[in-house]
Amino acid sequence: MAQILDGLKVSQDIKNEIKADVDKIIASGKRVPHLAAILVGNNGASKAYVNSKVKDCAEVGFKSSLIKMPSTVSEAELLEKIAELNDDPEIDGFIVQLPLPKQMDQEKVIMAINPHKDVDGFHPENFGRMALEMSTFLPATPFGILTLLERYNLETKGKHCVIIGRSRIVGRPMSILMGRKDFPGNSTVTLTHSYTPHIEEFTKAADIVITALGDPHFLKGDMIKEGAVVIDVGITRIDDDSEKGYHLAGDVDFDSCAEKASWITPVPGGVGPMTRAMLMKNTLLAYKHTIY
Ligand code: GUN
Repeated sequence: MAQILDGLKVSQDIKNEIKADVDKIIASGKRVPHLAAILVGNNGASKAYVNSKVKDCAEVGFKSSLIKMPSTVSEAELLEKIAELNDDPEIDGFIVQLPLPKQMDQEKVIMAINPHKDVDGFHPENFGRMALEMSTFLPATPFGILTLLERYNLETKGKHCVIIGRSRIVGRPMSILMGRKDFPGNSTVTLTHSYTPHIEEFTKAADIVITALGDPHFLKGDMIKEGAVVIDVGITRIDDDSEKGYHLAGDVDFDSCAEKASWITPVPGGVGPMTRAMLMKNTLLAYKHTIY
């Protein structure tokens, strides 16, 4: 039976460490770190994510600003707001919540963010720095997964890591990070995606499986090998008649995989809270000018 990689606990540890740092900053009379978030439109999941980020800021003692723009806003107006945040010395880092409305060129918007304030690590300059093993803001979800592996002291060196999904936010950066020369890295990486035939042939050979495809319960126990480490990035909202109106489902069929895996992340309480904590970490790094 697999042991649980407790993202809720580790993320709380990280937030406590950040809070302790902020307490020192306050005691020394300096201004506190300040994260801004731009939310365009009315996407329910995006609203919930951004509200969580604001809450996390309060928890660690950061200042936060939530900038809401209507879905009808023009790309030019959004770019103007980004330029304003780039130039504001009181803002240490900011994010533009994705996805953006259809009239926006997402790449152009991301490129407009000053890489020094790009705490999501989405700017191509930061992505390139990541690939080249230079200091940079790592995207929050891959950063969270690396930190979870690190805090549980799980060996990645020489292991075969199979990643499912090649998104710019999770799968693709994860595939680069797991193969880097620093810890946790040094894995042999296979990046699989929707055009990979017989994915189970790859997952069965994997020491570490990271699923980020958004297909509830996709990965079944008979698709992994005995003793594998299973990391579930999926968080699909499934409507139900609970008080909340939905529950979250991961990409991993937890019960069948937990019977064979050595370590496994639950959903909720695994990668999700780690992602949130790492955005706070990146904001602190931006405030301290640790990256650049
Ligand atoms: N949409 C889904 N995840 C993220 C994230 O980590 N950052 C931003 N900006 N948008 C997202």
